[in-house]
Amino acid sequence: MQHRVILRIDLGKLEANYRAVCSIAAPCAVMPVLKANAYGLGVRPIAESLVRAGAPRIAVAEPFEALALTDLGVPLQILSGILPDEIAPMLRAGVVLPLVSEESARLISSEAVKLGVTAKVHVKLDTGMGRAGILWQEAPKVLHAVAHLPNLDFEGIFTHFPLAYEGSSGFTSEQLRRFRSVLDAAKRLGLTFRHIHAANSDAINNAPEACRGPFNLVRSGINLYGAFDAAGTLRVPLAPVLNLSTRLAQIRTLPAGTPIGYGHTYRTIRETRVGTVCVGYADGLPLALSNRGAVIIHGRAVPILGRLSMDYLTVALDDVPDAAVGDAVTLIGRDGEAEITVQDWANLKGTHAYDIICSIGSRVQRTYC
Ligand SMILES: Cc1ncc(COP(=O)(O)O)c(C=O)c1O
Repeated sequence: MQHRVILRIDLGKLEANYRAVCSIAAPCAVMPVLKANAYGLGVRPIAESLVRAGAPRIAVAEPFEALALTDLGVPLQILSGILPDEIAPMLRAGVVLPLVSEESARLISSEAVKLGVTAKVHVKLDTGMGRAGILWQEAPKVLHAVAHLPNLDFEGIFTHFPLAYEGSSGFTSEQLRRFRSVLDAAKRLGLTFRHIHAANSDAINNAPEACRGPFNLVRSGINLYGAFDAAGTLRVPLAPVLNLSTRLAQIRTLPAGTPIGYGHTYRTIRETRVGTVCVGYADGLPLALSNRGAVIIHGRAVPILGRLSMDYLTVALDDVPDAAVGDAVTLIGRDGEAEITVQDWANLKGTHAYDIICSIGSRVQRTYC
């Protein structure tokens, strides 16, 4: 017996995407961002595959994500924040920490002294994201205060862009200017950094200045999975990594005028052959696909009728007379000439690819090929 809803993740294409990102980010090295269980896709096989493809280090969001990868043999770093009680276990595990304030620097330093280790830290600068880190205006003062704290290795410094899809003019270029001004101030204090990074996928594609000196590292997430932020442009073709599929549970012929699903938002216009498909919003399908989205059966895109429910949705089968119970149904991916992309769903939901990928349900079986 197999699972009903299956997400196939093509590791060969993932690695090809990693190499494609490396080619546009060069001379910067590319650090995969595998937070939130690799955007919900399953971190272990993805991390192993990317390390095989040459990833020099991996970024995550929080301690348990780091602990899951400590045996991979590459440096792991937590990106945007660290809580006081997380510092000692992370130092014991050798995880690189973000340095987000004078207070956090003092805490990390004193925990490192207690443990007899040197803490590798990356200074997290807020140059305009407004989310976390040391405000760039305050950074020279903070760096002055912490530069000589014991047992700290100021290995890196980084910032994050909120608007990089707009390109490197405008606000992103102002952030780059702010970042450089902090680098100059740090240099005057005798602080230099081995890893200097700012670019995420949006910047790698739209703000090439963030991939040149002084930067020598970029952070890539969404592009690795073949998706990108449609607000910007893509500089390199990416391979589609994800295929989401399920199967047909039942086929019926409904008389004209039959209402379908919760809310009776659709009513058959004529006698209609319909299929019940084993997938619903519990699997991560946006409710917005109701009456607007499609699935692919036998290489034909067929429309979703009515509101999808938790475990099932209904489709019209007029165009696929040979469809039979148990047949494969493609939800995201290609079958013959027909294709449905993550971005198609994002457009229908009025969201971005990140939200779609991270929302794929826990019931969905992830398989890797
Ligand atoms: C600090 C930081 N850097 C990089 C990334 C990777 O972003 P993307 O998936 O757009 O490449 C993220 C993800 O949100 C992030 O929070």
